[in-house]
This record gives sequence, structure tokens and C-alpha cells, in this order.
Amino acid sequence: IIIQPTAEAATSIAARMIAGLLEEKPAAVLGLATGSTPLKLYGQLTRMELDWSGATTFNLDEYVGVPPDHPTSYHHFMREHLFRHVNLAPERIHLPDGLAPDIPSCCRRYEAEIRAAGGIDLQVLGIGTDGHIGFNEPTSSLASRTRIKTLTPQTRRDNARFFGSEEQVPHHVITMGIGTIMDARHCVLLAFGEKKARAIAQAAEGPITAMNPASALQQHPRVTFLLDEPAASEL
Ligand code: GLP
Repeated sequence: IIIQPTAEAATSIAARMIAGLLEEKPAAVLGLATGSTPLKLYGQLTRMELDWSGATTFNLDEYVGVPPDHPTSYHHFMREHLFRHVNLAPERIHLPDGLAPDIPSCCRRYEAEIRAAGGIDLQVLGIGTDGHIGFNEPTSSLASRTRIKTLTPQTRRDNARFFGSEEQVPHHVITMGIGTIMDARHCVLLAFGEKKARAIAQAAEGPITAMNPASALQQHPRVTFLLDEPAASEL
């Protein structure tokens, strides 16, 4: 657990980890996250002029029923904040398909693609106020794989700011499972602000429980929490 005075300072450490990985292993497989937390990270990474040409990426999640070019989709988010600024090969960018007609087979394919790429070297994570990682809401099986999930009212409220109103937030999402995330060789979780303090304290110091999905990371052999002081205030 690394605590920094500001989100910028914590983010710089994550950016250096990713830059180091891309230099050491140009064909690295990165797991990427959305939400407001990694925004600064993508900003810093795009300014570093790294070579992404050999890299492969897999995003954690996507809303069901939201087209990829819609401004609230995670496809759009990633394109705007990272993909259009770096030299990643389009065929090596992966996000779950929120419009897939057959969601279970789309999820199985996603898992197979991660395996075929050799597994994820470094997975970037944020955390929800209820302890969710990806969109693995409380009560998610700690062994879960990529699948469809229903969002909790809390998460729909938290994410309403991106949609204009709570009613417009989709009820369903496709997300990598906790088991999928646990397979990554290194997990880097970023959390900023007092609103995340409780979820972080429970994830790091509470019992391992499906009620705080991030607590599963206690059993991961290599996980780094990068926090600002407010997010660390209940540790
Ligand atoms: C969403 C994403 C998560 C993210 C969480 C926190 O629910 N699916 O991956 O960690 O939001 O969002 P924020 O970073 O905006 O607080």
C-alpha cells in the first residue's frame, strides 16, 4: 500500500509502472479500467510518448445496450482518453461488446482472448464506494469469470453523473470476474478521495468477503494499492 499526498503523485507511480513494463516487455498485456479515477493516469501516459505498438489491452467492463460510439460507453471513454493518443494496434484493443446478441458466448470469447494473449501482465483497477472492482458488485463470487451483472442502486447513483440522470444508467453490464482479475500477474488499484476511504479500509484490512469484492485482492501475490491521503484515512 503506497500512500501519497495527492492523487497526481499516486498516479505518477502507476504511470511509471506501466511505462517500465512497456519498456521491459513491448508485447505486454495490460488490463485497463474506466471511471474518473484513472483519467489522470491516461493523461500522464499519453504525455510520456511510450511505444504501445506491441501491446495488447483488455478493459474490465462495458454497459449492456450502450453502442460503442455513444459518449457514455466505455469504448468511447477509452478512445477519447487513451486509444486515440497512442500507437496501439486497433486489433489488439479489447473491450466487452455491450451490444452482443449472445452475451454468454461473448463472455466466454473474452476469457479465451485473454488466455490466448498469454494473460494480463498488469491490471489497472479503481474501486467503487461499495468495494466493487470492474463491475463485480458485492455478493459477486470471488471465483467469477467474465459475465453479465446487474448494477446495484448505489452504483447506478454513483455513475449517474456520467449519464445526466439515474434513470438513464443501464441496469446491466458485462464485467471481467473477480477470478479473471485475480489471474492478472500484477494488480494496481488506484483510489482517491475520502469517499473511497471505507471501501479501501475494508478491502485492505477487513475480512475477505464477497460483500467487499476488492478484499479478494488480499489473496493476490502481487497487488499495489496507490492511494491519496483522504482515501487512506480509515486505514
Ligand atoms: C465504475 C467502474 C469501475 C470503477 C468505479 C469507480 O463502476 N466500472 O471500474 O472503479 O466505477 O469509479 P470512479 O473512478 O469514477 O470513482
